[in-house]
Amino acid sequence: ERPDALPRDMEGLHVAVSAGGTREPLDPVRFLGNRSSGRQGFALARVAAQRGARVTLVAAHTADLAPPAGVEVERVGSAAELRDAMHWVAKDADVVVMAAAVADFRPVDLAEHKIKKSDRDPDPVRLTRNPDILVELVGARRAGQVVVGFAAETGDGQGDVLDYGRAKLRRKGCDWLVVNAVGDGKAFEVEDNAGWLLSATGAETALPHGSKARLASAVWDSVIRTSRG
Ligand code: CTP
Ligand code: CA
Repeated sequence: ERPDALPRDMEGLHVAVSAGGTREPLDPVRFLGNRSSGRQGFALARVAAQRGARVTLVAAHTADLAPPAGVEVERVGSAAELRDAMHWVAKDADVVVMAAAVADFRPVDLAEHKIKKSDRDPDPVRLTRNPDILVELVGARRAGQVVVGFAAETGDGQGDVLDYGRAKLRRKGCDWLVVNAVGDGKAFEVEDNAGWLLSATGAETALPHGSKARLASAVWDSVIRTSRG
């Protein structure tokens, strides 16, 4: 997508986007992480800036991605850091997008010094739940603010990708949920993406298979219609 081919229809909007995978520290040199590349979140930030929005990108660990032009980037590590940063930027944002892959759990203990091996097996790593940042942001939403969540689903014997997406949208309480089908090399660590955009009002739009930039543009097309009434 050439930036000059995009409409400047997001001027006057401040959007806050989180991207990448959080890293939950175990000791000064180790962490629990995930495979999120950050590409979809970066594409959302880049396209919003190209369409004229003011964009704050809160980036956890990503693949080696260049910061999008014209976007203010704040780097974070753990879910706790991402949470603080998102609450801060959301205070002033018209649209808040949680595209980050937030660790559901973190180690209970953070060792001050590097954990050394011995001739015994190590103790198991005890984990505790992280707060749900998206649910918190929905709870703190100010008048007129639009909150967008993401879900990566595989579907299983209990339900398909869309069933899980609809249930997650209700559970999170956000205005929009972008549902990606994952598994079989889909979505993670690849350039292309496909899925559905679900609205709290019940609207369901198929997001055509295409680049993450195209998907980003399709998401913004729908989201800015509601953020401007
Ligand atoms: N999310 C969040 N805080 C968390 C976990 C997830 O803000 N602690 C956000 C993600 O950024 C995403 C949405 O919630 O926008 C859905 O994340 P997902 O991992 O699919 O949902 P979970 O509620 O964690 O459910 P599960 O992993 O069990 O499917
Ligand atoms: Ca999760």
